[in-house]
Amino acid sequence: MGNCNSKLRAAILAGLLLAALAGAANASGLGKMGCLNQGADGAIIKFENGLVKISQMEDGIIRVRATSKDKFEADQSFALAPDAPKPKAIKVTETEDGVVFETALLKGVISRDNGIIKIYDRSGKLLLEEPKEGGISFDSGKPGVVRSMPGDEHYYGFGEKTGPLDKRGTRMTMWNLDNVYTVNADPLYQSHPYYLALRKGIAYGIFLDNSYKSVFDVGAADPQKFSYQADGGELNYYFLYGPGPKEVIERYGMVVGRYPLPPLWATGYMQCRYSYRDEEKVRDIASKFRKESVPCDVIFLDIHYMDHYKVFSFDKKAFPDPAGLIGELEKQGFKVIVIVDPGVKIEKGYPVYEQGLANDYFARNKNGGNFEARVWPGDVYFPDFLKPEVRDWWGSLHKFYTDLGIDGIWNDMNELAGWKKDVRPLPDLMVPSGKVNWLDMVHGPKDAPVEHARVHNAYALLEAEGTYNGLKKLKPDERPFIITRAGYPGIQRFSSVWTGDNSATWGHLQLTIPMLLNLGVSGVTMDGADIGGFVSNPTPEMYARWLQQGVFYPFCRTHTAIYMPGQDPFSYGPEVLKISRDVIDLRYRLLPYTYSYFKNASETGLPLMRPMFLEFPGDEKTYQEASQFMWGGYLLVAPVTREKARSKEIYLPAGKWYKFESASALQGPKQVSEPVELETLPLFVREGAIIPLAPIMNYTSEKPWSPLTVQFYLSDKKSCFSLYEDDGRSFDYLSGAYLKTEFCQEPVPRGLVLSKKDGSGKFQPVSRDLNLKVFGAGKPESVQVNYGAGWEKAAYSFDPQARTLELGVKDQVKGFEIKVNY
Ligand code: GLC
Repeated sequence: MGNCNSKLRAAILAGLLLAALAGAANASGLGKMGCLNQGADGAIIKFENGLVKISQMEDGIIRVRATSKDKFEADQSFALAPDAPKPKAIKVTETEDGVVFETALLKGVISRDNGIIKIYDRSGKLLLEEPKEGGISFDSGKPGVVRSMPGDEHYYGFGEKTGPLDKRGTRMTMWNLDNVYTVNADPLYQSHPYYLALRKGIAYGIFLDNSYKSVFDVGAADPQKFSYQADGGELNYYFLYGPGPKEVIERYGMVVGRYPLPPLWATGYMQCRYSYRDEEKVRDIASKFRKESVPCDVIFLDIHYMDHYKVFSFDKKAFPDPAGLIGELEKQGFKVIVIVDPGVKIEKGYPVYEQGLANDYFARNKNGGNFEARVWPGDVYFPDFLKPEVRDWWGSLHKFYTDLGIDGIWNDMNELAGWKKDVRPLPDLMVPSGKVNWLDMVHGPKDAPVEHARVHNAYALLEAEGTYNGLKKLKPDERPFIITRAGYPGIQRFSSVWTGDNSATWGHLQLTIPMLLNLGVSGVTMDGADIGGFVSNPTPEMYARWLQQGVFYPFCRTHTAIYMPGQDPFSYGPEVLKISRDVIDLRYRLLPYTYSYFKNASETGLPLMRPMFLEFPGDEKTYQEASQFMWGGYLLVAPVTREKARSKEIYLPAGKWYKFESASALQGPKQVSEPVELETLPLFVREGAIIPLAPIMNYTSEKPWSPLTVQFYLSDKKSCFSLYEDDGRSFDYLSGAYLKTEFCQEPVPRGLVLSKKDGSGKFQPVSRDLNLKVFGAGKPESVQVNYGAGWEKAAYSFDPQARTLELGVKDQVKGFEIKVNY
């Protein structure tokens, strides 16, 4: 440690005296400040009971580490993106009160008396505060922190959780758990020790990068206190500055990474069940989609495709010719995703088992031998994904699937999940009993074992890394697609996420909105829930309502459990079939808009499915709003989630809100009650929206986006939308093979200007027409277009009743400007 200067020492002595008089505030806390030492990657401050290290990652991100030991452990993280900012020195100044640390955007102080921290923005606004009797602690060696909870602060994020949108007043555990959940169950499959706090429009985020089991108490025990405690490791958190919630999410994305641009087909509708048990059943469901013209891009194969549930195998009886079947489906425009669980069947001669055994690839039991549990195949060993060579091996095994033409991988049971060895063989059992003590597992090399308690929450993340990199090596020209049940921050760099075994109940339909919104706030932008519910089966009404909501899940898949009747658009009669077709059509029509937001999410980390407060952070009425959401920045989706509903209550924040595809608009802020029929999905469009739409198609690559319809919802301010296009499947966009086109609308005196500007990129879409549709226009006197060579008259049609103007324009031009004169 560096030397304490004499002033500091005097202050410490004075402080010690005061503390002795007042009695120690927090017995397991840091105690008095000792010395300060500035290092190249941060300032280390020694306290009586531990060390604190404060680093600057970038102007808006400060990292705080604390340990009760006399030195920090080697810096380790499962979550950090390879290109995350590195910890740097932070400007520190000693004062009588403590140590002030600052960046261009933030200023904090750590108190000399007891190490409590306060963080302010540069205008002096207090963002985060720890109470006198709070701050960092090491209760029985467990790292924790207690923060103040201002009465008007709201808390979001925390990954995959049931319950309300705002987590104030709740207590949550972070421990990946296979949990066929009820509406209040906790923990679930994913653990994201991260949250976003919002108070009067100002936000900050905290990411606690500690993979041990941890508990967040968000004012449940004491409404004024936020507490966090992990079972082991160090206290290690990132303070993420806003000022708005979007900037917090963007900064979080810089730390843990973002969901890469998916292949276009993965943004379509997907169909699954446990299981389509043989080739005929697969052919049958696929053909129904094409026969009934319900769009679908993916069919999933659940565990019954395997030979005795052995991963990297096919059941030769049920699936005699997988390559043939997959080729057939491909011709009809379907991709195939297969389930891959981590448990490897213990069976002599089974190559995956033999290779794993021979190379010491399986996780060990701390009492010796490989760790054994029982999952679908019977007794299994689990790959030790902590070892890089195991991740590589696992990735390379996927050649078995890619050689057959399989397009995506579904990782399940990776919390880890399984049962005790002596439980009877499972395959078709729904809820077997007999808990496994996962903490008996150890990872890593024999001479440097790592306890499972540290690895558990990150196991699925490590598996996804191996799978993603394996697929990328095997098919370097295709964007890999993975879906996982378990995860930890950083999972979004490799995989999409679904929310596991929900149920076909109205309660589950309702809770899915806040659940997915909070996952999105946690940077998991490609997420979805089983449409229709996994356990039990929905009524026709519930399925229709679920699909209306589900077409606005980034990951959009119907799935149901074993023994359940068919759960798909064809199982509930003609009315539900029509509703299903209409809403899935809508998803496909919106592809150009949606895909542009997927691109944006890959750059910013901002979710597509957005809580209202993300777009309207200044409007406190949006802070608890969990029955509607934004799809991108412009579409307000208000799905009906109540049985036999005849109306839907919707909150429209400030501004003008059009009904989708209509010039009829309402002025917010306003609470409205929309009458609904079974086929109604209330959809509003924010003024200024420019929404590009594709034609109806059966699967995403069936047709190019031609003609491209561009809808303008007029506003009295200029607005633009950047349409993103590329080949939808390869990585060529990274070397420029994309096209960004900017569409704008701008009111001018007695008229309106619409424009298109070809932006960057060298991707060439097909030669196509553009249909422009303008909602809210006045009756034009004339319309002129300029393709670059001067103004010419444009043909148009105007519907005075609907106040809708339509015109067709050429697209194969650098750009154009259109003047509508009233
Ligand atoms: C788990 C999954 C479920 C899957 C089933 C069989 O319950 O959550 O989606 O269908 O296992 O593989």
